[in-house]
Amino acid sequence: MEIAKFGVEDWLNVWENDAIYDIAGSSISSMTIEEIISCGPKTKEAFLNELLNKKMNYGWIEGSPEFKTEVCKLYKHVEPEQVLQTNGATGANFIALFGLINPGDHVISMHPTYQQLYDIPKSLGADVSLWSIDEKNEWLPHLHELRKIIRPTTKMICINNANNPTGSVMDEAYLRELVEIASEVGAYILSDEVYKPFTDEINVPSIIDLYDKGIVSNSMSKTYSVPGVRVGWIIANQKTCEVFRKLRDYTMICSGVLDDMIATYVLQNKEAVYKRNKKIVEENLAIVKEWVDKEPRVTLQFPKNISTSFIKLDVPMETEEFCIKLLKEKGVLLVPGNRFERPGYARLGYCTDAETLKKGLHELSLFLRQFD
Ligand SMILES: Cc1ncc(COP(=O)(O)O)c(C=O)c1O
Repeated sequence: MEIAKFGVEDWLNVWENDAIYDIAGSSISSMTIEEIISCGPKTKEAFLNELLNKKMNYGWIEGSPEFKTEVCKLYKHVEPEQVLQTNGATGANFIALFGLINPGDHVISMHPTYQQLYDIPKSLGADVSLWSIDEKNEWLPHLHELRKIIRPTTKMICINNANNPTGSVMDEAYLRELVEIASEVGAYILSDEVYKPFTDEINVPSIIDLYDKGIVSNSMSKTYSVPGVRVGWIIANQKTCEVFRKLRDYTMICSGVLDDMIATYVLQNKEAVYKRNKKIVEENLAIVKEWVDKEPRVTLQFPKNISTSFIKLDVPMETEEFCIKLLKEKGVLLVPGNRFERPGYARLGYCTDAETLKKGLHELSLFLRQFD
């Protein structure tokens, strides 16, 4: 199987450990086990006791009934049989694409975004049309462009809502029009929803609540701040789920007993997690806004309270070279935009702890002064 290098992951694998100020990540600051316990009603002792008594067998293959129940609560009309636990959203995307895409199929993918969504179908022999996001359109792709590139045979449209790296959001009206276009040709919509907004202030329904051929991938990694459990899920209609179920048996068996236990506890106490994370996102976004206002070499189409943003850099230097020099001289880690095929930009993951963010932005500004 021929497949392109995964630009962002490859960058992070090489450079992440050298960072003093890591403002590249896209999760909302990860929780410790202690913080996780404090989000719910259990005492530390009770939680640890439960953990110590866990038998380390395979556990529930598709995810425990408690896990599935909690996932169903995130949607309007999802039954537990439609939920399959996966190895992160990465695993969910892989299963969806591998399960449904054949050589010669036409696939449309939002671009740029999480590279899986276009490079896996490409590697499977699909004919992939890239549907470009536009900074002037709040970093959303145009629906009229979609109407031009869709074909009667289009098999799938891949979106990432909200979008990595820009933090842009397709709202309900946008999604309804997208569904209308897809349904005219019977295309699936695979929606990677790991950054789905978790407050009522932004109305972003899940694709599964809007479209029978909608497929959701999601996980504990971003909104829920526990990427370390490697738990995600995929949701589709019953018939499509059978395709995924079959494929899943060949790829993972289960996510692990401890991972399921922690993921379930976090979901059972999601309101406390949302409250914690809303505060982090709002406070840190305010820090970024203040910084952008004062920093003449950076502009930003602000994300809609999503944990990732894409700054535009006004510097006369190749973007990756800039980011490597920045890391080596100032210890600040960004993801260069060329890793998203958008040189001149960089991903700023601002939902780390506030001190790291403030110091990282300060050092970034000092570094930028050499170009004045
Ligand atoms: C859009 C998107 N999907 C999936 C993932 C991976 O998620 P997980 O950790 O659940 O595998 C990421 C991680 O950066 C992402 O940005």
